[in-house]
Amino acid sequence: MGKIIAITNQKGGVGKTTTALNLSASLALTGEKILVIDSDPQGNLSSGLGVRKEQKKGLYEVYSCKIGIRDAIVQTDIANLHVLPASMDLFASEIELLERAENRESALKLMLQDIKNEYRYIFIDCPPSFGLLTLNALIAGESVLVPVQCEYFAMEGLSLLIKLLWRIRGGFNETLDLEGILLTMYNRHIALSRQVADDVRRIFKTKVYDTIIPRNIVLAEAPSHGKPAVLYAPNSPGAQAYISLAKEILNDNNLLF
Ligand SMILES: Nc1ncnc2c1ncn2[C@@H]1O[C@H](COP(=O)(O)OP(=O)(O)O)[C@@H](O)[C@H]1O
Ligand SMILES: [Mg+2]
Repeated sequence: MGKIIAITNQKGGVGKTTTALNLSASLALTGEKILVIDSDPQGNLSSGLGVRKEQKKGLYEVYSCKIGIRDAIVQTDIANLHVLPASMDLFASEIELLERAENRESALKLMLQDIKNEYRYIFIDCPPSFGLLTLNALIAGESVLVPVQCEYFAMEGLSLLIKLLWRIRGGFNETLDLEGILLTMYNRHIALSRQVADDVRRIFKTKVYDTIIPRNIVLAEAPSHGKPAVLYAPNSPGAQAYISLAKEILNDNNLLF
């Protein structure tokens, strides 16, 4: 039942965490049971969901088998939304995983096996790098959702990522699917923004979501209040765009109507 989607792009600052936060919250608000996993040692997703630093026993402890996955999962303030948090110590997992004799790339997949069907969707917020944390997410995941910032060099980054995904399919996870490409930080007043959006649509066609995420300051402000924008300011254009993305995803997965 549960579908595991890795939110990934090796580029930083493209909207991965903002998407993980607001998409998972929007889906939870529709009544679907959602788990979102913070797989970035920066822990921005965790703080954006109001997880306090001292409370952050999370993915690192699970990777290093100090606690079980169920003991690390936290109920957020939003009904139906659970988070598996992370903090700086997750950096150590990159090294510790490397030192493992077995399951170094499939540790997360194995950990999620037991709980996968308790959720409708499990999202994994990836770090902006291509190490073992990302590899684990791409092997655990059934599909990848790729946020692309509507700016210069977006295309270069995207073609690199697609090549990488093909390699993962060839070597580790042959059924890994491209869930969709999400255009983010779009500004319709800027020609370059429109140009990038058009180019991405021309090349990736139906793989690009109809919903475009506009550049909207509320999306950047909300996390400092420990809330996703869809709760902090549900009527803002940014929140509305993520609510519309959630509908589109439910529709694509035939869950609506
Ligand atoms: N659509 C948007 N409009 C305005 N600011 C945004 C938007 N999406 C993300 N941001 C801000 O841009 C920065 C980078 O976004 P983030 O989601 O953290 O990217 P990533 O996880 O890919 O590194 C953050 O400060 C975030 O709040
Ligand atoms: Mg991030």
